[in-house]
Amino acid sequence: MTQDELKTLVGQAALQYVVPGEIIGVGTGSTVNKFIDALATMKDQIKGAVSSSVASTERLLALGIPVFDANEVGELAVYVDGADEIDGQGHMVKGGGAALTREKIVAAQSRQFVCIADASKKVEALGAFPLPVEVIPMASARITRQFQALGGTATLRLKDGAPLVTDNGQHILDVRGLHITDPLAFESEVNQWPGVVTVGVFAHQKAQVCLLGTEQGVLTLT
Ligand code: A5P
Repeated sequence: MTQDELKTLVGQAALQYVVPGEIIGVGTGSTVNKFIDALATMKDQIKGAVSSSVASTERLLALGIPVFDANEVGELAVYVDGADEIDGQGHMVKGGGAALTREKIVAAQSRQFVCIADASKKVEALGAFPLPVEVIPMASARITRQFQALGGTATLRLKDGAPLVTDNGQHILDVRGLHITDPLAFESEVNQWPGVVTVGVFAHQKAQVCLLGTEQGVLTLT
């Protein structure tokens, strides 16, 4: 099976976690796009979605799924999103698509995080994928030096030759060379650095369930 087919498989498998009559938290990325396409087949059974990015909002609306502002609704039953890396405890690295801040907000508003990923995303320990960190632009040089002190090399993410600007109007640093042995402690520490908007380690908002697409089918990890 191709990676794309594995993404389709887990996107469809996530429908079993959709609670009829509810508003669904929806993440961002190529795997979530498969979930959104599958969700459209049951759009008459749900109230709508809270979205984590402009891109997902546009896709949801194009398929006729109403999108609510996070402030208009209370706690959500379930949040479905992809990951760049996920370990055996459900800790993740996210933000390859630059949507990590809103993803963490919607995840925090949800009772259950269902991660959908192809098998290539499963790792023993986080850190091989360059860690995305959303930052306030005036702090990026100092935050780069702080990562250097931890052994990491941070680079400003570019798009078309200019700094990428997130949906929140901020920049992204991608940090290579980190070994994240204690994701909870690491997330807590980096969260406190002035100018950090969101660090792409999701340990406080970890996945309770991971639907992993493999050649043998969908594995459910809890
Ligand atoms: C978006 O910012 C990310 O957190 C995505 O959830 C993550 O990059 C996974 O994306 P893919 O499903 O495209 O691999």
